[in-house]
Amino acid sequence: MNILIVGNILKDVYLNLDSRNENFETDQHGIKWLDLSFDASMHHFFSQNISLGGSAVTLEVLTNLGIPATINHSDLHFTPDGPAVTTPITSSRYILISDGGISYLAPSKFQISTFDPPAEPYDYLYIDRSASLDQSAASKIQAYLDISLNTKLILYLHNLNNPHLNSLIPRSALVFVENFSELSSAPSFKSTPVSNLDPNKIIDISETHLASQNITEPISIGRIDMLTHLSAYSIASATILGAFALGLSVEESLKLACLNVEHSRLDSTLTLEKLQSLKSTTKDNLELIAQSLVLRPKGILAADESGGSIHKKFDQLHIPDTYDNRRDYRNIFFTTPNLEQHVNGIILFDETARQLADNGQNFVEFLTAKRIIPGIKVDQGLEKYSDSTPPHYNPASPARPDETWTKGLSGLADRLQEYYQMGLRFAKWRAAFEIRLDDQDNIITPTNTAIDINCQILADYALQCQKAGLVPIVEPEVVYDGYYTIDQSAEITGKILDCLFKKLVDTGVNLRACLLKVNMVLAGKKYETQSTPAEVGTKTAETLKNHVPSELAGIVFLSGGQTPEQATDNLAEIIKNGPFPWPVTFSFARALQDPALFAWQGDNQNTETARQAFLERLIANTSALQP
Ligand code: 13P
Repeated sequence: MNILIVGNILKDVYLNLDSRNENFETDQHGIKWLDLSFDASMHHFFSQNISLGGSAVTLEVLTNLGIPATINHSDLHFTPDGPAVTTPITSSRYILISDGGISYLAPSKFQISTFDPPAEPYDYLYIDRSASLDQSAASKIQAYLDISLNTKLILYLHNLNNPHLNSLIPRSALVFVENFSELSSAPSFKSTPVSNLDPNKIIDISETHLASQNITEPISIGRIDMLTHLSAYSIASATILGAFALGLSVEESLKLACLNVEHSRLDSTLTLEKLQSLKSTTKDNLELIAQSLVLRPKGILAADESGGSIHKKFDQLHIPDTYDNRRDYRNIFFTTPNLEQHVNGIILFDETARQLADNGQNFVEFLTAKRIIPGIKVDQGLEKYSDSTPPHYNPASPARPDETWTKGLSGLADRLQEYYQMGLRFAKWRAAFEIRLDDQDNIITPTNTAIDINCQILADYALQCQKAGLVPIVEPEVVYDGYYTIDQSAEITGKILDCLFKKLVDTGVNLRACLLKVNMVLAGKKYETQSTPAEVGTKTAETLKNHVPSELAGIVFLSGGQTPEQATDNLAEIIKNGPFPWPVTFSFARALQDPALFAWQGDNQNTETARQAFLERLIANTSALQP
């Protein structure tokens, strides 16, 4: 088997510049640029290194997978000592690194790729993402394919509307499209030739996922080491191409491609053997899901109110609490336009996970198809110590009777197994702690016993989730609705986090595949002086930095009964107190949903207004993540 690659060998030149001495301009996204007349020899740089890009990356990946491949019109090949080439590489791309940021300076004109029909037959012809084809090159390829009926064509489409490539699309066995899920939802998509292609032949490549029609693999491409974001696309597509040529399933191909991107450096992509061995550790996949849930600037929507909680919400607005109303209410959120640009994941309640979207898919499939990771609340609510005793309870050190512990461990393994099969990929478990003071303002709850037991239950739950293939979110919530100072909130939150992380580690939970959902640190709602956003920002950041291990995959905030604006303002201030060792984002329920619920009022004629109200909160919160 052999593959012929058509594309350009872009040579990347990395320059690590001292931005204090260079004349950078900053664009509206905060990215620094030098003007395009940039001449590397004129500037001071700390270090410079060079790597091959474009079709050279593809060639290297295929070589490592053990597949013979050639770049058309080039003698570049890989030897045990690295790449070897005798023809000059003319096209260069400068990659500037300064203050940790990266900018690209591409040549103003792309070299047009040439195509020389090869004398020998090829099994595959791959039009690489670096290829820049004009009509003449495209016609030569077409003519070659017309007489090479056994050659399979694989196409990387940069642009859905490149007229030179139109005739090649129906002939393709596989087509790569960047950000296909977004492009295909635009009205103009219907007029492109790709819209007529069998959807199974399309592979969607984006910064957050690799996907085929029914399968999505989360990925995180935001690496700023030697592997640039652009080369990561080449590694992903080349690995999928190689796995396809080797006859592996689409699912397997996507998995191997994710692993190759995650573990490669530009000068050393992985062998097939190494990729296969990595694949057998499911831990990697869980870590990737955890990372994907906290990719910024997006958050997580908590839409997992239990039957009792949703009943209370509806009751306040006299909305009948029926099965259909609950579905219609959740449907507002899930069908809000561009939802996937604001949330990485959504936490569902069991009933919702089984309900159907308007198109007949169940909500889990519906959200997955939108590239939103569906998760599930698996705890079964709070129980008072006066009503029953939890696992791990030692009557010799009692909790107070009105404190709570969280139910749901019994039968959990079976429920998690079913949820995994339904397509849910993460779970949430909430423990609640109320701060109560005595007459002298001493803290009487939470007791050490209540903290200890709830944290052990959270750790037991988290371990079971990871065994079942779901990422656990552990949520120890210090309830906002009380009378206490911001310092008391910081003290108790810190104490709970210390206990929680000790239990998680002792129980064997992988923190890299686990998320913390936590309250902001602020004075209780009944306290006479409410905390300002600046105070909340400083205290929350300080508490988390002091009490959360750096290897944790990420932290998300609950809103806890703050007003929507208050939660957003406080979030913005917390983010300003970064950087943090972990990604930090929001996972609000009330602060995202309440304006929409109020707009909807149980009447589906108000659905559009409700969506707008929701979108407004989403945009406000994703903006708060970008200081
Ligand atoms: P709130 O944002 O309304 O506090 O809800 C978050 C949550 O998921 C509670 O478990």
